[in-house]
Amino acid sequence: MSNQNDNGYVNSEYLNKLGAVLENVKRTTYQRMRVMEGSRVLDVGCGPGTDTIPLAKLVGSWGRVAGIDTDAAMIEQANSRAIQNGVSGWCEHRVAESDALPFDDESFDAVRAERLFQHLQNPEPTLREMLRVTRAGGYICVLDTDYASASIAIDEHELERRFTRAVLEHSVKNGYAAREMPLLFQQHELDEIDLEIVPVVYADYAMARELGRWNEIERIALELNLLNEQEIQHLRASCERADAQGGFLLHVNMVMVAGRKG
Ligand SMILES: C[S@@+](CC[C@H](N)C(=O)[O-])C[C@H]1O[C@@H](n2cnc3c(N)ncnc32)[C@H](O)[C@@H]1O
Repeated sequence: MSNQNDNGYVNSEYLNKLGAVLENVKRTTYQRMRVMEGSRVLDVGCGPGTDTIPLAKLVGSWGRVAGIDTDAAMIEQANSRAIQNGVSGWCEHRVAESDALPFDDESFDAVRAERLFQHLQNPEPTLREMLRVTRAGGYICVLDTDYASASIAIDEHELERRFTRAVLEHSVKNGYAAREMPLLFQQHELDEIDLEIVPVVYADYAMARELGRWNEIERIALELNLLNEQEIQHLRASCERADAQGGFLLHVNMVMVAGRKG
């Protein structure tokens, strides 16, 4: 089954599985934003509500949680989940673009975006919107994958570099976005900037293939003539060999940056 929906982004089943792998780092983003009971929180590019539901439980009925996403199916699922979890009274999701947030100025205490900026050609308009809707003294947190840091421990070095480059430059709109966020936060005069680099490690080849969307990346690499069929088979055989010896290892960093609006 494909991990992508019709818009070219990942589907909700995929996001749920990856959400379970990233549970700890997600919780850290809530802490970096100082989310507490009564907080008003926005999740930009919220997907199926992977974060808005736990956030709604954290802030309780005195607080407010909103999620926006361009994908109507994700929003429908997020709203159903809010009902199932008994938080729909203070947790709502809407279809919207990240660079035109349908909220008043300074209406949130905390605003986050996870694995959204990799899908945006230009990060500026979205970051500006996130800042606009955050109150003075409120916090913004961005978590994204630094695809340039992806590494697969196999002996086919040249093939591995070409494959990881295909991931970086062709599997998302802006694979370099994550590492550019800390500087952008500074340029937008956020205070108390807190940067954390979080490694994500896969020691299981089947899981890396699924959560790394390898079938799609192999297809893209073939289509763009970045690797040929024989090279893809070679790469697979190398990974399978490493896996059979108990030595398969893929790791990639995530960049988590938080800051306070002055
Ligand atoms: C990789 S998913 C991450 C979803 C969620 N943040 C999570 O952690 O599970 C990226 C999401 O961003 C949404 N998205 C992409 N471009 C967007 C845009 N310009 N405005 C709002 N949402 C967008 C996609 O529909 C998708 O749900």
